[in-house]
Amino acid sequence: MIVKPVDGPLGATIEQLDVSVPMDDDTFGQVLAALGRYGVLRFPDQRLDPVSLKAFSERFGEVQTSSRGDKTEHPGVSTLSNIKRDGAYIGSPDAGQDWHTDMSYRDVMGFVNVLYGITVPRRDGKVLGGTEFSSMHAAYEGLPADIKTRLATATATHDFSKFWEHMRRDKNSPRPPMTEEQRRRRPPVTHPLFLTHPITGRKILYANPGYTTRINELPERESDEMLEFLFQHQLRPEYRYVHSWTEKDLLIWDNLGTIHRAIADYRPDEHRHMIRCQVLATRVFEPGFAEPAMQHLATA
Ligand SMILES: [Fe+2]
Repeated sequence: MIVKPVDGPLGATIEQLDVSVPMDDDTFGQVLAALGRYGVLRFPDQRLDPVSLKAFSERFGEVQTSSRGDKTEHPGVSTLSNIKRDGAYIGSPDAGQDWHTDMSYRDVMGFVNVLYGITVPRRDGKVLGGTEFSSMHAAYEGLPADIKTRLATATATHDFSKFWEHMRRDKNSPRPPMTEEQRRRRPPVTHPLFLTHPITGRKILYANPGYTTRINELPERESDEMLEFLFQHQLRPEYRYVHSWTEKDLLIWDNLGTIHRAIADYRPDEHRHMIRCQVLATRVFEPGFAEPAMQHLATA
């Protein structure tokens, strides 16, 4: 495989790797190293179906099964699509159209998002519906030293309902109101504000405007002000990168080291259709799992 970094704070293209074929351990170590280092990896021109997408995803850890848009015939593989069949959307129609981190609201954090582009919207030859990322390695490094020190051991609350209600209220989302059952299944959770990344060994800022509601150790008003500062800071243009889709792109990203949003610049009649797996950050924190990748980074 060949790794071609994007000129910027994150992003790389992996060429000459067919991800539908099981990877040997050394290749997987190289992919994991590139994922930690570049945050977002594009594997162009892949031939994938739900079964091979899930098999590839499972190399990174446990695949989440109860996602929106899940199709019962392939648990863990969900459909993101604004295409309708018999009057109903065939998948989840509104991709995450504001800055967030997938699954930061869970007690077990999200690790890798695996997304395969089947239909990409275009208008007048221009590709629409891009996915934008911001580097949380860069955001942490760019923080003022006094904030790094003051919040070194701070924790933050993440709440699933914050993003859900925002999509309904401000983004015209067809999502129904959250049910009592959903609220019971998704109580607010706490994570460290600054994490040591399991692959790079460097610090990252683990907060996002979508789900983070509170810095627990600060009084409420101070917490609000600090979060507002962090949300602005983490989106500085120099930390950001937009992926412009091509059909048959497999895109994977590190939900620990990046935040992202879907760019909603396409109309309902301009179709966007993708399939996805979400991998939980279980195995990546197990001793030894990231070791070969860390060795690749150390010798690169
Ligand atoms: Fe997302």
